[in-house]
Amino acid sequence: MNAKTLWRLVKSSLAVAVLTATAPSFAADWHEIRSPDGRLEVEFAVEDGQAVYRAEYRGRAIIDRSVLGFRFKDRPALVSGFKIADVERTSTNAQWQQPWGERRIVTDLSAGLSAVLSSPDGRKLRIEFRVFNDGFGFRYQLPGKPNERFVVSDEVTEFAFSQNYKAWSIPAYREKFSEYEYSRSALSALSVVQTPLTLEGNGLALAIHEAALVDYASMNLRMAADNTKTLKADLTPWSNGDLVRARGGQNTPWRVVLVADSAAQLADSTAILNLNEPSRIGDASWAKPMKYIGIFWGMHIGKFTWEPGPNLGATTARAKEYIDWAAKNGIPAVLIEGWNRGWDVPEWWQNGKSRFIFDAAAPDFDMAEVSRYATAKGVEIVGHHETGAQVQDYLRQLEPALDYYDRFGVRSIKLGYVGTRLDVHEWPDGQYAVEAFQKVVEATAKHQIAIFPHEPVKDTGLRRTWPHVMSREGARGQEYNGGSPDSGNSPDHVTILPFTRLLSGPLDYTPGVFDFDYREKRPINRVPSTLAQQLALFVVLYSPVQMAVDLPENYEGKPAFQFIRDVPTDWETSKTLMGEIGDYIVTARQDRHSSDWYLGALTNERSRALSVPLSFLSKGRRYEAQIYADGAGADWKTAPERVTISKRIVTSRTVLNLSLAPGGGQAIRFKAL
Ligand code: NOJ
Ligand code: CA
Repeated sequence: MNAKTLWRLVKSSLAVAVLTATAPSFAADWHEIRSPDGRLEVEFAVEDGQAVYRAEYRGRAIIDRSVLGFRFKDRPALVSGFKIADVERTSTNAQWQQPWGERRIVTDLSAGLSAVLSSPDGRKLRIEFRVFNDGFGFRYQLPGKPNERFVVSDEVTEFAFSQNYKAWSIPAYREKFSEYEYSRSALSALSVVQTPLTLEGNGLALAIHEAALVDYASMNLRMAADNTKTLKADLTPWSNGDLVRARGGQNTPWRVVLVADSAAQLADSTAILNLNEPSRIGDASWAKPMKYIGIFWGMHIGKFTWEPGPNLGATTARAKEYIDWAAKNGIPAVLIEGWNRGWDVPEWWQNGKSRFIFDAAAPDFDMAEVSRYATAKGVEIVGHHETGAQVQDYLRQLEPALDYYDRFGVRSIKLGYVGTRLDVHEWPDGQYAVEAFQKVVEATAKHQIAIFPHEPVKDTGLRRTWPHVMSREGARGQEYNGGSPDSGNSPDHVTILPFTRLLSGPLDYTPGVFDFDYREKRPINRVPSTLAQQLALFVVLYSPVQMAVDLPENYEGKPAFQFIRDVPTDWETSKTLMGEIGDYIVTARQDRHSSDWYLGALTNERSRALSVPLSFLSKGRRYEAQIYADGAGADWKTAPERVTISKRIVTSRTVLNLSLAPGGGQAIRFKAL
């Protein structure tokens, strides 16, 4: 035995001696934190020198004793030998307003606890809990002074589930990053998955995610060794294996467990937003919810190309046509992808190959003329920056690129990060990616330009702090139905997204396909949906910016387009009325700028009859229900375009019977009379 080991032994027996002296048994002192409604109970303790927590909901265990702590590259771990140095109770009880959102008012009501733990060598680790009625979060404050730098080599955080729930997940560390369909499996079958991870069972719905991911790596969840129910934090590493290059005193993101009585209730949780910091941009009125059209779908179905050639999409003439059409049809904005230089670089989507220039238009696109024309017609141009995952190159060009858009009145940008690694080597959700994205967030905030990234770092509720980060892709979007090498998404995909990906924040899915026959160039691809379902997606898949994706000519003369004109993108309040993950969902939302309500219903590949009480409508008020339903014989496979439009008068006492076709849906506007 060497001196070090001996000293450790002496120290640990000293610690035991002290413990024995102060506490007659080894029973830990569990600090209980109850949600304001008393249903969710989280307990925290230092037990045998380990920091641990557990949770119950409605008196039933959901998470058993789970360990907290850290290991570092070049200093002792913080996993054992802890003592509680200080415990403080905290609470929140406030309401705050979202500048735009799925609901205007958010209630922040929680009970909390902040504990300072001291390690045997005197370092202090703070762990802070907040328990809401709809879930709880905890985060760490790492020890040390702000100028101290060190490397996290493992975040020990465990989630030891009390039972083998049913899980809805997408895998971590895969080539297409978040662009996968969700798998349904037993919790015990998971290996390593991304968050949000959604679980169901025992009459409950749960999700694990994180809030306020800044200056840190994304958290994935990995099944603990020799275990079938305990997941542990698995931070996406840098290419050299470091997990997080940390600073002393830094807060980690919140680790969040959402809890609800049903999947429908889970979909309406607000804990993640509440765990983010208030807005840093002051007046956010320049980040405007809106609908837009563009040439994107045309590219995906092979009608246009991004690269120069006979079918080049981004030409001045086409931009003007789209602007004219938007102006005539009440759509506020147009996105012309492929307008800038660099799309001619072969295989730009392969790692390291792209060479985009962000402040110069390609020869066929006259930005000055397009911008002048758009302004004259009262239409906005949505900018487009595809980085091809060449992040440092993009950051180098960012200031001139934003100046360029300022010059031409462009107030929002769709961003793209196509590629499997950033700058060839780094995962798109490690600390490298998070830091690089934060630079874009801060630079665009200064320019007052809104952004909606595709292939993004996952959303963790940062829209509260930075409301100009309006929407993200970060999912297998509609684009896969257009031109992906496989046949597209499955019909149940959109009935899973609201309970999984959308728990993290708005989704730029790009709904609104009206023409289902684009087989000429895409013989194997299908939109696995009816037209009525495409309308319902505008309500169900929340995003403050919604692209009506189809070609304008496919909307011409179609009465159902009226729903796309009418449907708002900013809501007073929202309620998931019913749903089963992977089967169906019904969502109601109230317009933020009128008394109208909207409803969207989606089903998977099975037809379905649903009875929906309209009790969400204002009592005593009459509404004209404008109903867009699947027509007779509608079926996503054989007759997707069949839609019937009808009207009837309803009140909050009406119960509507919805009949949904296979892959179908229903969209309703309740116009207040
Ligand atoms: C992938 C994005 O998801 C899509 O929206 C975009 O059109 C292409 N990349 C090109 O930037
Ligand atoms: Ca994508």
